[in-house]
Amino acid sequence: MALTRRKTLALIGGGTIFAATAATAGFVTSRTPTRALAPWERAGGYGDPRLDALSYGLLAPNPHNLQPWQVALEGEDSFALYHDTSRRLPHTDPYDRQLRIGFGCFLELTGIAAQASGHTVELTLFPDGPQGPVARGVMGKGGQTDPLAAHIMERRSCKEPFTDRAVEAEKAAALAEFASVHTDPALVADLRALTWEAWLTETLTPRTMQESVDLMRFGKAQINATPDGIDMGGGFLEALMLAGVFNRETAADPDSTAFQQGIAIYDEMLNATPAFVSLTTEGSAPQDHIGAGRRWLRLNLATTQLGLSLHPVSQALQEYPEMAPHYARAHELLAPQGGTVQMLGRLGYGPAIPRTPRWPLEAKRRDV
Ligand SMILES: Cc1cc2nc3c(=O)[nH]c(=O)nc-3n(C[C@H](O)[C@H](O)[C@H](O)COP(=O)(O)O)c2cc1C
Repeated sequence: MALTRRKTLALIGGGTIFAATAATAGFVTSRTPTRALAPWERAGGYGDPRLDALSYGLLAPNPHNLQPWQVALEGEDSFALYHDTSRRLPHTDPYDRQLRIGFGCFLELTGIAAQASGHTVELTLFPDGPQGPVARGVMGKGGQTDPLAAHIMERRSCKEPFTDRAVEAEKAAALAEFASVHTDPALVADLRALTWEAWLTETLTPRTMQESVDLMRFGKAQINATPDGIDMGGGFLEALMLAGVFNRETAADPDSTAFQQGIAIYDEMLNATPAFVSLTTEGSAPQDHIGAGRRWLRLNLATTQLGLSLHPVSQALQEYPEMAPHYARAHELLAPQGGTVQMLGRLGYGPAIPRTPRWPLEAKRRDV
């Protein structure tokens, strides 16, 4: 059953899966982790320009929804953004490259939100060197609303199969401002194969798979208590959990039905991809990672504006020995002239999906 199989995606690959059929709607509504989603409602409602902007920033896409940020207000008009180094992905992101991309998304979103409320933000990256804050922002009055601001609340990372509708040339051209868009059928076929093989490598490498499994939150109570990581929610999955079919042990066990079915579903999803985007930088210093994140966030808002879905698929870009052949292949396909591919994503038309959990701003302040 297609819907059932799709939901099983969450057994292994991550993402929020809520059942969407009318028959289960009542039960599902009761399983919605309302508290974990509350920061989406609270965004912009603090009555203070800095807190308002930062409360939008924390809605940014970020690897494994780890939310490794901490913020502090400084003086009358400044804020600092820190990396909470207790939150890392040492196996799949050993150099924090992807985490820094997530910080770039946070900063760009904070800036767009600040502008929309009539403020400017002047950012300095790594103002105190590599050990200090990721950035310091000074806010002032002024700023013009960026049209992309209108799409903050609808932006998603869509971890679902896309339809076979092609991405129109004019939409691809509009996105070229932010990233390289790949619609050539031969290259798309190569990238489908690459993303699948790379995903399989991460999944079948026990320590990298375990890193994901450790971040899974099983069911509404866990998601509300720990609103980060890979949220396994919804009535369907919770029924599987109650039946003992799906839990932290089966999710990590390659012999379990859950694990095997998850593989089949990821195969289907990665193949259901009509186009890809990639984002390459010349250098690969921490500032480049932040810059790539800022571009990715704008790309994600622009895809939302155009009615397109975007899904980062990062496995082939990860830096650990088992992934090295796929990393090399990604660069051969996407950066033949040199440079570092910072982001790779699926692009197409996917279903509407729910918001993902966030820790509230209060939990991320280090100054109170
Ligand atoms: C640098 C980066 C890498 C990511 N890599 C993946 C990935 O490989 N697979 C995936 O499903 N999602 C990936 N994501 C998406 C996150 O899982 C997602 O942003 C997070 O769960 C929050 O969900 P949202 O973007 O829908 O708000 C990535 C996001 C970022 C910023």
